[in-house]
Parts: sequence; C-alpha cells; structure tokens
Amino acid sequence: MVLPNEGSDWVGILREILERTSSMPRHEDGILGSMTTAPEPEATAVFRRFIHVNANDPWLYPAVSELEKEAVAMLGEVLGCSGCSGMITSGGTEANIAALYLAREAGYGRVYATAAAHDSVRKAAKLLRMEYVEVPMKDYRIDPEALDKLMGEKGEGVVVATMGTTGVGTVDPIEAVAEVAAKNGSVVHVDAAYGGFIVPPLKGWEGLGFGNDAVVSATIDPHKFGAPIPAGGLVVKSREWLSPLIFEAKYMPSGEQLGLLGTRPGASIVATWALLKKLGRSGIAERAARLMGMARWVYSRLSAAGVALVAEPEVPIVCVKTRRESVVIDALRGLGLYLYRCGVVKGVRAVMMPHVTYSHLTRLVNALTAFLAP
Ligand SMILES: Cc1ncc(COP(=O)(O)O)c(C=O)c1O
Repeated sequence: MVLPNEGSDWVGILREILERTSSMPRHEDGILGSMTTAPEPEATAVFRRFIHVNANDPWLYPAVSELEKEAVAMLGEVLGCSGCSGMITSGGTEANIAALYLAREAGYGRVYATAAAHDSVRKAAKLLRMEYVEVPMKDYRIDPEALDKLMGEKGEGVVVATMGTTGVGTVDPIEAVAEVAAKNGSVVHVDAAYGGFIVPPLKGWEGLGFGNDAVVSATIDPHKFGAPIPAGGLVVKSREWLSPLIFEAKYMPSGEQLGLLGTRPGASIVATWALLKKLGRSGIAERAARLMGMARWVYSRLSAAGVALVAEPEVPIVCVKTRRESVVIDALRGLGLYLYRCGVVKGVRAVMMPHVTYSHLTRLVNALTAFLAP
C-alpha cells in the first residue's frame, strides 16, 4: 500500500525523500548531456514567490499577463522580431506542438522536417494528425534542393528548421529554407529551443529570419538558459497568427485561456522575465560566447587526439562518433560524467549548458580520449 491510512509527520517524510534521492546527481557534479541546467538562484527565488499563480487567470493576475507580454517581447527581440506575439510554455515540446497547431489552423496540414529535428516535432505531427514528410539532409542540415523537390511533389506545408539540432549541434540554412518555402506557398517554424540564445547574439543579433514572410513562428526555451523548469517560449509573427491558441473557458472571468494547458505556471513567466532582465543583451551574448568557446575547446581537443567527431558545432553541442554508445555512456557515468546519445547518428554527445565548467570538460576530454582515441 503506497497511500497510508493515516498521515505522517513532515520530519519523517522529508527524511525519507532525502534518503531516497541522495544518490541523484546534481548538474554541477557533471551532467553534460541533458538539455537541462541548474537554474539561476535569483530566478529560482522569484519562481518560489509565484508558485501559486495561474497564468491563465488574467482577471486575478493581470500583472503576470503584462509580464508575460514583456517576456515574450524580450524573447522576440533576442530572435530579431520586434512586433512578435507569443506565450511562455512549459518547454520546447509544448511550444513546437502549439506552433504546428497554429500552422495547421492556418491551412498547412503537412510537416516537413529532417531526422535531426527534435522528437517533439514528430510527436506534434502525430498528435495533430498532420502528414509528416522527412526531408533529406546534407551534413545533418536541411538540404534546400531536396526540400524544394519534395514540396513540388507533395504540396505546401510547414517546414520545421532547427537552429541548433539536439543531437549534433548543427543549424539548418534558414534563409534558403524560407526561400524554398515561400516559393512553394509554405511557411516555416524555427525550432531555436536551445540555439535561439546562442546563434543570434553571436551573429551580431541578426535574428533568425522573421524578416522573411515565410517564417511564422519560433521556439526558444528559457529553461535551457538558466530559468527554472518549466519555461519554454513560443514566439509568433503576429497576434492574429496566435489567435487559434486562445480557447473559450466559460467559467473563467476572462472567458478565455491561452495555449494548450488550462492552469499554467505563472511562476515560470515571472522567473523568465526576471532572468532576461538580469542578463540583458550583454549578459546573453557573454554567456553564449562562453558556452560556444567551451564547445570549440572540446571539439579541438578531441579532434587533436584523433577522436571521431560528427560535425563542427554551430551551437555548443559536440557529438562524438562511436558504435559503443552504451559502453561509453556507462563507463563515463562511473566517473561521474553524464553523457547522452546523439540520436540521429551513432555516438555520444555533450552539451555546454550554463552550469558546465572547464573542470568538467577537462575530465570529459580525458575520459573520451582514453576510451575512443585510436
Ligand atoms: C531543438 C529542441 N527542440 C525542442 C526540445 C524540447 O524541449 P523540452 O524538453 O523543453 O520540451 C529540445 C529539447 O532538448 C530541443 O533541443
């Protein structure tokens, strides 16, 4: 029996929780493969202060709605979109599902994406009963010519371009993809869940392509950059494009709710707003440069040691080729280093999230060199 007949005292309960979770690794220990990070202490403090707030009750919490609009505007600015709309979501998966739902509601029933797109894209297509068309890749990036040919055969749809593939750290050629999409009467959703905080600031804030009419939406996740989980972001080109995500909610004083969820964590919004204000453009760019520098360091060290690598990273993700994925992952786990699979190719990958240090990376490079160098 798991549910006790009588309640117990908090001290005993807390002791049991601490005992049962005592061997769980913390990010700082050496989690180097997960797309999660240790949240900023200040953002966590803000999050705690608002844990009771339902963001989908703007009648009770109008200030949180205002903060959400501002947080979305800031995310839009990071991506180079000044008039964009959107919402804070629970993460990249929800943002991608919502984005493809918006495309479907606008009449695009087909999803074009590569095998390197995040699994949530295929999940979204399945949930939304949209036709999923896999686009061939060139060097783990969308091949625009192949996309053009496929669209000519199959018809219009929504193309998911990824700014920072989860498995190998590549960036799809968004401009070329947007041109092909426009030519074929299609639209583009950019999944910049992780890369959105990295690529635009490092490219002089040139944005991710909202200047092209075909680009209609993007995903960018604050919880991959220091906000507490759950915090994702959906940025869309206009309030009008977002409107199918406003649903009737008869018993709510406002009469409506935004997004796929009902009750939504207001704490995520306030913490995201606080994190973006704390970092500002300079803090985001500094962090992006630090993480990218780390990835280049890992790549060059492993490459010099003769370890087989998949692609030079365009976001701070390094995928190391190996057929012995499980053996390597288990061996490194034994050393307190937690790596994940590349997925799209046989190999193991490390991602430089904000908690990662050169001390972690020195241990990582030494261990991978010992296991995989010829
Ligand atoms: C490119 C990309 N898109 C979407 C997601 C899904 O994000 P979440 O796990 O927050 O739902 C991830 C997660 O790693 C990702 O890397």
